[in-house]
Amino acid sequence: MAKSATTFVCQSCGASSSKWSGRCEACGEWNTIVEEKPLSQGPSKKSLGAMRGRAIPLTDLSTKEAPPPRTASKLDELDRVLGGGLVPASAVLVGGDPGIGKSTLLLQAAAAFAKAGLKVIYISGEEASAQVRLRAQRLNLTDAPVKLATETSLRDILTTLDEEEPDLAIVDSIQTMWADNVDSAPGSVSQVRAAAHELTTFAKSRGSAVIMVGHVTKDGQIAGPRVVEHMVDTVLYFEGERGHQFRILRSVKNRFGPADEIGVFEMTGGGLSEVTNPSALFLSERGQPAPGSVVFSGIEGTRPVMVEFQALVSPSPHSQPRRSVVGWDGSRLAMILAVLESRCGIPFAGLDVYLNVAGGMRVNEPAADLAVAAALLSAREDTSLPAETVVFGEISLSGALRPVSQTENRLKEAQKLGFSKAIIPTGGKATATKDMALTRMGDLTTFVGEVFGAG
Ligand code: TYD
Ligand code: MG
Repeated sequence: MAKSATTFVCQSCGASSSKWSGRCEACGEWNTIVEEKPLSQGPSKKSLGAMRGRAIPLTDLSTKEAPPPRTASKLDELDRVLGGGLVPASAVLVGGDPGIGKSTLLLQAAAAFAKAGLKVIYISGEEASAQVRLRAQRLNLTDAPVKLATETSLRDILTTLDEEEPDLAIVDSIQTMWADNVDSAPGSVSQVRAAAHELTTFAKSRGSAVIMVGHVTKDGQIAGPRVVEHMVDTVLYFEGERGHQFRILRSVKNRFGPADEIGVFEMTGGGLSEVTNPSALFLSERGQPAPGSVVFSGIEGTRPVMVEFQALVSPSPHSQPRRSVVGWDGSRLAMILAVLESRCGIPFAGLDVYLNVAGGMRVNEPAADLAVAAALLSAREDTSLPAETVVFGEISLSGALRPVSQTENRLKEAQKLGFSKAIIPTGGKATATKDMALTRMGDLTTFVGEVFGAG
């Protein structure tokens, strides 16, 4: 019955096992498993029944107290993603690749919330105060009443927060925090979990909002913030392609607002600036309609966003042709190629296929299926779609086109940006207007025949 005092924890997904192995069985990552002392040995008694706990007071759902007000930062893109502003006593995790601009975003947020009247403390565990001040200078935020500290000891940070009682504490980053009661290196899963737990508990018990930064990295040394996602109220991801200046803040979990909401920013020499009309931005490089390029009218959270799909199809020199995707799901692409091949008789064997979403945007909606199929066909046939046309619709495995949600909103946004024609599935609520002509189709074969005259 001798139990080992250590466990082996995957530094990428947090799964623990009793023995070491080279590859994590839970997430499939290699060389991420590290030996750690467990956080708690568990209760010494076998069952809880040995001692009675105290009865907790129960309350009704109805209350006379008004809910605590949210604070808006006046950075609209940030407020929308938070669900309409910062909720007191909430714990927020902001994840993202190193260097994507998390510290920049949060310093701007700190200044904005401070100007909105909150008492804000910014704790950096990564940079020296001088570096943070230098960044503040560059962002022109030195007059904001934000209190700054450089510290990694969780005990000292909690003591400070307890004395200062801020409305908002920003901790950059959770991977640098060090709890002295946990026996492993900073950045390990145990440390990250302990820090997130302590900071979340602090937020709940003292009514301060806490925003934590977490790096997402493939490097096995640093624990991904995924292990703390379930502890916090809101999880935001800050994403973008390194080569592009656009950055997207996406809520993947929010207990106080809609998930999947996005805020769009542009990284400039003077920090992040808000992009209030992302559709115009993602389509700005568009000229004459070109083969392989199709505009998709998408919905991100509560907001329509138009993006351009670009496809390139060329004869492959390889025995196994390439399928390369940026900004869209690779297996979904394989599915659409298979439907085109078996339902419409258009083979892609022997052809390399490249698919890209312009501007560094990521699209997750199945509603983009038809736009992807249109881009692939357009590239393959080397003919462009009619000008000023948007396309959307889901493709089922039978080749039928299925209507998608919020058709009206998608059309309205397209019309606003100067599009006058839309190709959409039959069914679903939508009415043609004098500025927007609708072409409705029931299946992919009809689409191929009518648009490309093939099939
Ligand atoms: P940073 O916020 O330090 O990233 P993170 O905290 O996610 O690691 O931002 C890093 C990048 O942002 C860096 O490569 C420089 C760029 N940047 C600008 O382009 N303009 C600016 O005004 C600032 C402050 C940073
Ligand atoms: Mg940083």
